[in-house]
Amino acid sequence: MQAEFAARLRASLVDVVDRAVPKRLLRLLAHPRLHDFIGLERIEALGAWIDNTFMLGRRQKRCREQPVDLSTREYLKTHFCSNPFRQLETTPTGLAYLCCPIWLPTPVGTLDTPPEQLWNSAAAERIRESILDGSFRYCNHLHCTAIASRTLPALDAPESQQVIKQYRSNPARLPEHLVLSHDKSCNLSCPSCRSSLYLANSRKQERLDDLTEQRLLPLMREAKSVMITGSGDAFGSKHFRNLIKRLNGGDFPNLRMELISNGQLLDRRAWNELNLKGRVRYVQISIDATEAETYAIVRRGGDFGRLLRNLAFLREMRTSGEIEALEFSMVVQKLNFRQMPAFVKLGEEFRADAIIFNMIRQRDIFSREEHVEAFIGSPEHPEYAEFLEILKAPELAQPNVQVGNVLEYVKRAAAGAAVRAGGSAAIRV
Ligand SMILES: C[S@@+](CC[C@H](N)C(=O)[O-])C[C@H]1O[C@@H](n2cnc3c(N)ncnc32)[C@H](O)[C@@H]1O
Ligand code: SF4
Ligand code: SF4
Repeated sequence: MQAEFAARLRASLVDVVDRAVPKRLLRLLAHPRLHDFIGLERIEALGAWIDNTFMLGRRQKRCREQPVDLSTREYLKTHFCSNPFRQLETTPTGLAYLCCPIWLPTPVGTLDTPPEQLWNSAAAERIRESILDGSFRYCNHLHCTAIASRTLPALDAPESQQVIKQYRSNPARLPEHLVLSHDKSCNLSCPSCRSSLYLANSRKQERLDDLTEQRLLPLMREAKSVMITGSGDAFGSKHFRNLIKRLNGGDFPNLRMELISNGQLLDRRAWNELNLKGRVRYVQISIDATEAETYAIVRRGGDFGRLLRNLAFLREMRTSGEIEALEFSMVVQKLNFRQMPAFVKLGEEFRADAIIFNMIRQRDIFSREEHVEAFIGSPEHPEYAEFLEILKAPELAQPNVQVGNVLEYVKRAAAGAAVRAGGSAAIRV
C-alpha cells in the first residue's frame, strides 16, 4: 500500500515537473537580460531543444487523446483537407510540418533534410493516410479552424478527388505551397504572442539566408505560392525582406505571395522597395482592436494612426485589383471582445473581403493565471455573460465574417465547467 502510494506520488511529481519546468524555462529564456548574459544563439538553441523535446510531445499527446464526438467523426469521414498533400511549413525550431504546427503538431523532418526526402518522409506519408482514412488523427480538432468551423471541402468534391488522384499517381512531387515561418523577428511584441521584442541578430540572419539558399529555394522548385509568415512579421524581419526581394528577383516568375502582417510597415514605400507589384495574391492584417488605446496594449509597439494610413493604402490595392483578397483578423480576448461588432465595420470601411476571429490560445510564454484572465470564453470569467451577448450581435452573422474556432472554444469551456460542477455538458451558444 505504502509502495503504491510512493509510486503514485513519484509519478505525480514527475508529471508536475514535466508540466511546469519546460514552460517556466521557456519563459525565463525569453527574458532580454538573459539574452545579453548568455548570448541569443545559445538561448535560442536551448529554447528550440526544450520545445522540440517536451512541448511538442505534449501537443501531440493532446491530439492523440482528444475527445472526438460522433458528429465530428462523421463529418471527418466525408470530408477532405488538401494541406498535407500540397503544403509545407517551416518553423523557428528547425522542424518542417505539413500544416500549421499548432493545428497539426507532428513534424515531417528537419529543414536541413534534402527536399524530396523531407516531403516524402514516413511521417509525411502517415499524416496523408490519416486524412484519406478520415480519422484526421494528427490534427487538433479544436485549434484547426477548418474542422472547428466545419469548412473543409467534401471528400467527393471534384477538387478533393483531383488532389487524391494526383497523389496516388505521383506521390513524389514537391510542395505547391510553402508557409515560411522560420524567423520570429517582428517589429511588435503583442502580449498574446511574446513577452518581449525579438529581432534576429546579423549572425542569425546570415544563417537563415544560407538555409534559404541551400534548402528552401530547392524545396520551392514546384511551388505556385508562398505565405510569409506565421512566426514573425513579413516586413518587420530583415531576413523575410531579403527573402521577398530574392523571390521577386526573377528566378520565380510564377510564384504568387500571400502576406500575413501586423501592417505597421506595409506602406507604398515597402511595396515598391520589395518589388511587390503584380506578385501578391492575398494580404491578411492582424489588428485585434478598433480603438487606439486597446490597440496600443494588444499590439504592443504599434501605432493605430499609422495602421489606419496603411489600411487605406491596402484598400486602394484591393479596389484596383492589385491584390485578390484582403482579410482582417482579431485574436479575441478580454481586452477586445466588446469591439468585435465594430471590427466587422472596420473591415467594411477598408474593403476587407473577410473578417476573421480566433480565440486567444494558451501559449508557452504566458502563465496559467494570465491565460485565465485573458480567456473570455470561460463561464468562470467575470465578463463571460457579456461576451455571450456580444456573440449574438448581427454583425457577426454576416457571410464574410468567420467566427473561426471561437464558438468551439466556448462550447468546450462550457462543457468542461458543467462537468466540474457535476451537471450536464449540454450548452447552447
Ligand atoms: C504570430 S502572427 C505572425 C504574423 C504577423 N506578425 C501578424 O501578427 O499577423 C500570426 C497570427 O497569430 C495570431 N496570434 C498571436 N498570438 C495568438 C494567440 N495567443 N492565440 C491565437 N492567435 C494568436 C496573430 O494575431 C496573427 O494573426
Ligand atoms: S489541421 Fe486542419 S487544416 Fe491542417 S491538415 Fe488537419 S484538417 Fe487540414
Ligand atoms: S505582430 Fe504578429 S508576430 Fe509580431 S508579436 Fe504580434 S502576433 Fe507576434
